[in-house]
Amino acid sequence: MVKIVFVCLGNICRSPMAEFIMKDLISKANLNDKFTICSAGTAGYHDGEDMHYKTKSLLKDKDIISEPFYSKKLTEKICKENDYIIVMDNANFKDVVKNFPDFKHKIQKITSYAVELGYDEVPDPWYSGNFEETYNILSIACLNLFHIFNKY
Ligand code: 4NP
Repeated sequence: MVKIVFVCLGNICRSPMAEFIMKDLISKANLNDKFTICSAGTAGYHDGEDMHYKTKSLLKDKDIISEPFYSKKLTEKICKENDYIIVMDNANFKDVVKNFPDFKHKIQKITSYAVELGYDEVPDPWYSGNFEETYNILSIACLNLFHIFNKY
C-alpha cells in the first residue's frame, strides 16, 4: 500500500486537483487497494469547505470525479499516516518542515516528477487565475508519480 498526501496552502485549488487526478488514474487502473490518496493545506483557511468552484468545474470538464471532498489542514496525524507528503511549492515545503520536522524525509515537491516541463513550483491558480496551466502540470506529474509508485 502506497499512502500519499498532496499538500498546498489552502487545500482548495492545487492539492485537491492532484488528489482527484491521482485517484482517477488509480481507479481506472483498478488499483484502489494499492493506494491511499488524500490532500491537505498548510493553512486551515477553508476548513470543511468544498474545493474552489473552478477546480471542481475543471475536473468535471476532464471527466474526473471530485467528491467526496472537504478542505482540511495538515496535521501531525496525517503526516504520520502517509508515506509521502507531496507539496506544490517551496513555501509549502518550508512550512511542512517547520511545523512537522520529524517528517522531513517524507516531503517531496511534485514538480520533481515533471522536470521536463521546467517548473520549479506549481503556480497557485488562486493568484494566477490559470487553472488550466495548473492542471497541465499536475496531470503529467501525477501520471509519472503513478507509474513510479505502481512499481512498489
Ligand atoms: P491552493 O490555493 O493553496 O492551491 O489551495 C489557495 C487557496 C486559498 C488561498 C490561498 C491559496 N487563500 O488565501 O485563501
